[in-house]
Amino acid sequence: MFVPELFKTIVRETTARKSLPRTPEPCLVMEGDESVDAYANGGRQSGALSGVYLYHLAQMCRMIRPDEVVLDVGCGPCNLLGQLAELNPRSEFVGLDMSQTMLSRAESSFAAKRVSNVELLCGDMTTLSGVDDKSVDVVVSSMAFHHLPDVEALDKTFAQIDRVLKPDGAVYFNDFGRLRHPDSIRYFVSRAAEGESQELVDDYYHSLHAAFTRQEYETLTRRHLRHRGRVYSTIISPLQIVIKSPDRHMTASAGELKRRFRALPRARKADVRQLSIFLRLGGLSGAL
Ligand SMILES: C[S@@+](CC[C@H](N)C(=O)[O-])C[C@H]1O[C@@H](n2cnc3c(N)ncnc32)[C@H](O)[C@@H]1O
Repeated sequence: MFVPELFKTIVRETTARKSLPRTPEPCLVMEGDESVDAYANGGRQSGALSGVYLYHLAQMCRMIRPDEVVLDVGCGPCNLLGQLAELNPRSEFVGLDMSQTMLSRAESSFAAKRVSNVELLCGDMTTLSGVDDKSVDVVVSSMAFHHLPDVEALDKTFAQIDRVLKPDGAVYFNDFGRLRHPDSIRYFVSRAAEGESQELVDDYYHSLHAAFTRQEYETLTRRHLRHRGRVYSTIISPLQIVIKSPDRHMTASAGELKRRFRALPRARKADVRQLSIFLRLGGLSGAL
């Protein structure tokens, strides 16, 4: 049912002249209990975000060597960071978010799962105050930059990330890229919507409207992080943008990642496959 729609989306995105204008998120810092719950639920084992998380989790694992310090900016309820910490038990993780509600949610889930290698920090990614210069080995971020108010805030964030990274430090960021046509947004949102709360569906819709363009990411990566990594995106339309350093480590968790893939529901497996193919065509080899 989705294949003809995907085909139409490809045609729309290749023929539209320019990207949609940006509409910032109505709620930049996610503090409301309902939106936090909906978001945390989307990341559950079979939730709408589970396939996308698994793809990026596998990529992030290849960035991290044992005994390193990893900072996640805009960590939210730590759906992804929790899994990353679990698979890399010898490293130390810092999750930074401006929402105390998100951090409290993360704290309770870490206590329940006995995750002990994550420290949580309430702070602003545009300043990273409280994080020392050259103190971090790897900075990761997932689906967070589009929550910034404007491209100037993204510029400040990239400058701060460069400040806190060690000279040989690495990055792995993923976020949405700005699409060209409103119907493409409707298509991608409807794909993810089945069985999910209206809150999460609305959040996805706003996220795609608030995404920065690939060109904006390229300009800022060249300005601040040129020596650390490059920008990749899904081919045809930049639904997903990845900024990544070269792989640094062959993860010991490959078997476990494959097991998690096999446990995903069919629609979420399809998300992983599609993301993998479209990013591979965009130059990024898959990690699963
Ligand atoms: C969509 S959530 C992503 C959460 C998580 N990284 C994930 O992939 O599940 C975006 C998060 O960015 C946080 N955020 C927004 N602006 C921020 C800022 N200036 N500094 C730190 N966090 C911020 C929000 O509170 C929210 O928790």
